[in-house]
Amino acid sequence: MSASRPTSEPVRVCFVCLGNICRSPTAAGVMRHHVRAAGLDEVIIVESAGTAGYHIGELPDDRSRAEARRRGVDIDDAAWQFRGQHFDEFDLVLAMDDENMRNLHRLSADPDHHAKVRLLRSYDPEAPPGAPVPDPYYGGADGFAAVFDLCDAACQALLAALVDEHGLDAPPR
Ligand code: 4NP
Repeated sequence: MSASRPTSEPVRVCFVCLGNICRSPTAAGVMRHHVRAAGLDEVIIVESAGTAGYHIGELPDDRSRAEARRRGVDIDDAAWQFRGQHFDEFDLVLAMDDENMRNLHRLSADPDHHAKVRLLRSYDPEAPPGAPVPDPYYGGADGFAAVFDLCDAACQALLAALVDEHGLDAPPR
């Protein structure tokens, strides 16, 4: 996280998986849901991306959308591919698993960029060290429900950590 970020600037976070159609759009939708509920939607900006380009421009997978809708969360961002130049647009880049993390590290040699990359579940106090949000793409509906639950737990903890680290308050409405 950049120590030089002016306090008036929003905190920008990007969730990253492989295809940007299952895990990262779910995490982004869940995070936006909690950020909005906390009145912080002008203060924390949430995006998602993939390290691969297979699904650029596509909506999230129907199974992710169905699971999110069932839980009252909208996910309808079009997929895009994270590249090295995007590191400067974000304060924090949240990888779903080790492979995503390695792919992100390969995109830049800048240690400041590497320092922005964390495993999403490292924020979840219940998660063991190194725990992934597992790729549900080739599995059944239960995998998509599990992804939602894992993202939900981690995003609630992430939001609390951002509020604490940046001293964030909801602006008056
Ligand atoms: P995601 O899941 O990384 O959570 O979006 C995947 C989506 C697509 C593929 C792999 C994983 N794929 O091989 O097309």
